[in-house]
Amino acid sequence: MTEKELSSVLEEHGQGHIFEAYQKLDEEGKKKLAGQVERIDWSIMDIPFHKTASDEEPKQERGKLEPLSAMEISEIEKNKARYEAIGLDAIKAGKVGAVLLAGGQGTRLGSDGPKGKYNIGLTKDMFIFERLIRNLLDVTDKAGCFVPLYVMTSDKNHEETVSFFAEKNYFGYPEEFVKFFKQEMAPSVDFNGKLYMESADSLSLSPNGNGGWFYSMAVTGVLKDVKERGVEWLNIFAVDNVLQRIADPVFVGATLESGCVSGAKVVRKADPHEKVGVLCLEDGKPSIVEYYEMTDEIINSREPNGDLSYNFGVILNYLFRVDKLEQIMNEKMPVHVVEKKIPYMTADGDYIKPETPNGYKFELLVLDMIHLLDNCLSFEVVRDYEFAPIKNKKGIDSVESARALLQKNGVAL
Ligand code: UTP
Repeated sequence: MTEKELSSVLEEHGQGHIFEAYQKLDEEGKKKLAGQVERIDWSIMDIPFHKTASDEEPKQERGKLEPLSAMEISEIEKNKARYEAIGLDAIKAGKVGAVLLAGGQGTRLGSDGPKGKYNIGLTKDMFIFERLIRNLLDVTDKAGCFVPLYVMTSDKNHEETVSFFAEKNYFGYPEEFVKFFKQEMAPSVDFNGKLYMESADSLSLSPNGNGGWFYSMAVTGVLKDVKERGVEWLNIFAVDNVLQRIADPVFVGATLESGCVSGAKVVRKADPHEKVGVLCLEDGKPSIVEYYEMTDEIINSREPNGDLSYNFGVILNYLFRVDKLEQIMNEKMPVHVVEKKIPYMTADGDYIKPETPNGYKFELLVLDMIHLLDNCLSFEVVRDYEFAPIKNKKGIDSVESARALLQKNGVAL
């Protein structure tokens, strides 16, 4: 991009202040900043910027919602041995891989660096990454073979994540089965849609959400490894659920037997208004709809047996068929505009770390991939055995609550 093109593209999008910053830079700085501008997908910022900090995320237009029944625990228990055998066969045949989504910034937890480095131990070290690898080792010990593990990082935490795994000897997992890849970055803007700078020669960029993981696998070349190894299914999971069952053979077996092209682990809602994304049907296709996108009538509707019709919340543990992911890889996904506290540099060179939200980041979410697929097995799990997310320092979904759940499951901390 020539200087003239850069100036006009920035002008066209109301970002003239970035060109002013560019003009003050040396050649190297100019190259860096121009490269970042060139990679901006302007279509994601095509939203009206007139919200106040207290407004909710704009609601997506929703289609016709209908309940999607889940495979419930009672049914799973009856068929557990068969599902597990099918799942273990698939794992032994090298058809199952796992993807750890670890590109997030964990701002709510307030720890700098990768969330997986957080030490949740009480009497000994127990890092989140270590806990997850141990959970995976439960399965690989049973299967007698390893599952390829792909770890998604971002520019913000890649080096630290990779060196932490190396320093800790991959927590006992074989290095040749672990591959890291970086996700894409997206710009941040103030409440008027003006791009923030993070330093004199850099825009404020942040990871583009957890929904771009498969695209990032493809552009970084990691997908080649998936294909070469013959992996047909990928189990995606979040870094922060320390009770996460990874490559769970029962889940794999049930999904395979169901004939569905994807599966989602779900937990029964604690109450109708619990703030979770619910797996249901939207215009006949599987979809995850947030609590605030549902009417009270839908939220409270019940089945003849008295159960809530929209009763199962997702826990960010999904299985996807790789060939289907390749088909949907380039489809447009909704962009979520999220209010955040964004550190930035002023035009005068002062660095500001705001105490309250001061702008928006743009994110793609993995849950939106489900709606691009024809079907999804909703697979119920016991919340207290499989769901201990660490989002906050204290209170709900915190280090404290996760520790209590780990101890309840017999994990010594
Ligand atoms: P969260 O939505 O909880 O986001 O991520 P976060 O960035 O970790 O935490 P906050 O909101 O800043 O406090 C759910 C999962 O998705 C991953 C996270 O690492 C976590 O495993 N994620 C999130 C990414 O991999 N990339 C992203 O851009 C965002």
